[in-house]
Amino acid sequence: MERFPLKNVNGVPLMCYIADNWDSISAFCPDPSDLLIATYPKAGTTWTQEIVDLLLNNGDAEACKRAPIVERIPFLEICSPPPIPSGLDLLKKMSPPRVIKTHLPFQLVPEGFWKNKCKVIYVARNAKDNLVSYYHFDRMNFTQPEPGPWEEYLNKFMKGEVGWGSWYDHVKGYWREREKRNILYLFYEDMKENPRREVERIMRYLGLSLSDDVIERIVQLTSFKIMKDNPMVNYTFIPDFVFDQSISPFMRKGEVGDWTNHFTPAQSQLFDEDYARQMKGEDIPFRTNI
Ligand code: A3P
Repeated sequence: MERFPLKNVNGVPLMCYIADNWDSISAFCPDPSDLLIATYPKAGTTWTQEIVDLLLNNGDAEACKRAPIVERIPFLEICSPPPIPSGLDLLKKMSPPRVIKTHLPFQLVPEGFWKNKCKVIYVARNAKDNLVSYYHFDRMNFTQPEPGPWEEYLNKFMKGEVGWGSWYDHVKGYWREREKRNILYLFYEDMKENPRREVERIMRYLGLSLSDDVIERIVQLTSFKIMKDNPMVNYTFIPDFVFDQSISPFMRKGEVGDWTNHFTPAQSQLFDEDYARQMKGEDIPFRTNI
């Protein structure tokens, strides 16, 4: 399968098929009852999607196995390249309240989400692990440009020259708006440290109150070990000419700190210096060493 080049939309590099359909994507108007799960790619989107779907289905594992995650929770801006279902087409067939996934940075989220005061869950992951995960994903994901060698990809990531643009702008964009827009801002590292605590936070944000047993079941069902073998969330439903999981599995490691296996000391120092520059003045409480 050919890999798709990136094309700028208001200064943000997106896959060309997204850029070419930008007018209809940005015109999408959600219902006020719709919920948006927003992330930078590889920050823990699928994990959060499955938690949310299980919470909304009172922990019913069978209900959450009725269809692959991409059909239960449409990916707003994904369109055209078959066989990934188009988000807008799926959304048309569903009635609100719907859960919707996006990787769009804050400034590109369709205005209707803010006008209609939709609930938004944002998940952020520390930059180095997020980058490592994205690198391996781009190796196996033929809908995105070839990542090239690790060092080259590292530089592209720092410059924001990857799909959905700069990680730095992405995490800052939602962080700055979280109070004004009532965004629940979560961290992958917190979810790893205490999944039950974070599942309960999501539950409260959704206005739900589930029993202890159900919460515990949801925590178990969304553990990395279980999700890795769940064909409705591990992306084995996408053919291997699109996601070649023999190159790198979608459910790869699910850990905090895998960056230490990839960065040389020199790369880590360079990255940290650049990070300090790009994140100057920000108070986002990222943690890398847990
Ligand atoms: P790694 O590549 O570091 O393993 P996304 O869903 O945003 O594409 O993110 C994918 C990343 O989240 C992958 O990270 C994947 O392994 C990890 N992940 C998925 N489900 C998880 C879970 N239940 N617990 C921990 N990590 C999970």
